[in-house]
Amino acid sequence: MTTQQRKIFVTSALPYANGSIHIGHLLEAIQTDIWVRFQKLRGHNCLYICADDAHGTPIMLSADRQGLSPEQLIERVHAEHARDYAGFEIGFDNFYTTHSEENRAVAEAIYARLDAAGHIKRRTIRQFYDPVKEMFLPDRFIRGECPFCGAADQYGDSCEVCNRTYTPTDLINPVSSVSGATPVERESEHYFFDLPAFETELRDWISAGHLQPEVANKLDEWFEAGLKEWDISRDEPYFGFQIPGAPGKYFYVWVDAPMGYFASLKNLLDRQGRDVAEYISADSDAEMYHFIGKDIMYFHTLFWPALLRGSGHRLPSNVFVHGFLTVNGQKMSKSRGTFINAATWLEHLGPEYLRYYFAAKSGSGVDDIDLNLEDFRQRVNADLVGKVVNVASRCAGFIRKRFGARLATNVHDEPLLQAFSEAGPAIAAAYEAREYARAMRAIMALADRANQYIDRHKPWEMAKQDDRQPELHQVCSLGLNLFRILIIYLKPVLPGLARRAEEFLGVEPMTWDDLEPPLLDHPIRKFKPLLTRVEQARIDAVVAASTQSLGAGTVAGTTGETAGTQQAAAEDAADEGAGSGNKYLTDDPIAAQITIDDFAKLDLRVATVTEAVQVEGADKLLQLTLDLGGETRNVFAGIKSAYRPEDLVGRHTVMVANLAPRKMRFGVSEGMALAAGPGGKDLFLLSPDPGAQPGMRVK
Ligand code: MSP
Ligand code: ZN
Repeated sequence: MTTQQRKIFVTSALPYANGSIHIGHLLEAIQTDIWVRFQKLRGHNCLYICADDAHGTPIMLSADRQGLSPEQLIERVHAEHARDYAGFEIGFDNFYTTHSEENRAVAEAIYARLDAAGHIKRRTIRQFYDPVKEMFLPDRFIRGECPFCGAADQYGDSCEVCNRTYTPTDLINPVSSVSGATPVERESEHYFFDLPAFETELRDWISAGHLQPEVANKLDEWFEAGLKEWDISRDEPYFGFQIPGAPGKYFYVWVDAPMGYFASLKNLLDRQGRDVAEYISADSDAEMYHFIGKDIMYFHTLFWPALLRGSGHRLPSNVFVHGFLTVNGQKMSKSRGTFINAATWLEHLGPEYLRYYFAAKSGSGVDDIDLNLEDFRQRVNADLVGKVVNVASRCAGFIRKRFGARLATNVHDEPLLQAFSEAGPAIAAAYEAREYARAMRAIMALADRANQYIDRHKPWEMAKQDDRQPELHQVCSLGLNLFRILIIYLKPVLPGLARRAEEFLGVEPMTWDDLEPPLLDHPIRKFKPLLTRVEQARIDAVVAASTQSLGAGTVAGTTGETAGTQQAAAEDAADEGAGSGNKYLTDDPIAAQITIDDFAKLDLRVATVTEAVQVEGADKLLQLTLDLGGETRNVFAGIKSAYRPEDLVGRHTVMVANLAPRKMRFGVSEGMALAAGPGGKDLFLLSPDPGAQPGMRVK
């Protein structure tokens, strides 16, 4: 490498540890991975660091619901995340967790310095408390009627009907969505980080840096609106790190999450006997970049730099913000089958197609990016199979069969070869600037030229003429050399294809420095298909496997867009468990369509409740005996929060009579009683109009 070697530390945002990696996460991981692989290919010292974001209320509650400890849950999810990222060739140097001793140490050290410098304020606030679950409730875990328009069942911070924001204590008839109890107001001392004290320093950092223009504009708006002190403590029970010297108080998940970048790096460097200070101290000579989505900008461009400044650390060299992924022009949706998990994709399609498509659509801006599945298929087939791999497959056979699998000793068209290697600097500049779409266009233009060259010389005709064999040898050899250069250029995007191509070309792993010289008088190996076409059936299979009707798992539409600020939106996400994967999920009002035949499979019957009893040890269940006009069924129904057993006896309801019997902890359930409503006290058993008799079929 002729240029100076850079020392670079790069991160992707840490996915929450209570949901699967999906194609939205992958957009970010792939954009980051391409940049890192590019830097490494250029000979720079670049470390790619990530981790699971393991703390917070949603993770605690979701472990609880699954009968696991939070530690068990995050361990299980960590293994899945690591596997999914690896499946997409995301080349982390370390993928760790924020629930680590390293991170505890980092968080405590940063906090101690902030506190010593007077940047932590203590103040008592009033908050809703769930008297049954015995915990303070994040806004998003409280529902009730909107104080402005009266709409039912709205979140604690904003109304999705009239779009107004308020505080949870303004809600009419508030209900805890954790237990169904009516929350009570309670006081508690909270710890606040003095963000406003850092305004000048933040402004300096911003004007000295090279933030994207959209990001700089957003920051201006936030400064205009005025910075506020940030509540960094949460009361127990909480899954996180205790605040030293503050019994029962924990760091809010968003405090130790970005610190997890440092902790994960430290975990890696410790194993190499190196000191993390090289990268994080105020006088570090390393570059540090965070790739993030636009929803978590507030945390990365205000809180995080201020925490770093206040504790005497270096600031990010830049924060690279990307937009959201949409599919076929709309938010990812479970009912449309476009909320696609990484693992589901990999069951049907290789990772390279998605990597290439995301590259072909990515620029350096914060615009949303659309995965149009029709365009996707055409594009990857035309570019990767039709253009790039085609160059090799048109030449390989001749070299092998006619020339002993050895390339020619000279270059047939020197200017063409030179044009290919001379495209290097422009392509490198595009990668460096994260203008991947521009890089892909330049590479595909070269691939077109390679194919035109082959078209022009028609090796298949030369092959028929004995006197043109040397020329045939040279043309096909140059074709393979042009292919080799295309592969170097594509290597950050398509590492797997590059490995297979290197094996076919019989070369060591290539770097950017290998653009020259060409391979001459060099043996190649047998050509195996490097990449196959994407068939529509595979895409259909991915969509089918991702299609869920509502009800299978409740889908909360928490786009956060109605909330006051971006900060609020992301905090809600952290509190509410949007990390389980539904942050950008549309509120699907309607389940996927079914046919009349699907409907006919359901045997719905009118039934009479002849007995109803409490179930020992069950929080939610009542045990019902349902009479279907002679035949009786034992059914467990999750309606305890809404009904007293004695009130149910004698009434008519509707049940699914042909549901396969399910063994539950308390016995076998032989059907399902039907009820509507969000849960808690708001659950309503269906009943037919008077006159309907037990056993009648519902149709
Ligand atoms: N845990 C926080 C980040 C902490 S970083 C110190 C979080 N997690 S997340 O799982 O919700 O999101 C992780 C990253 O994925 C974020 O940068 C987010 O913007 C990105 N994306 C999640 N869904 C996305 C799309 N649908 N589209 C594009 N990026 C998306 O936030
Ligand atoms: Zn309202």
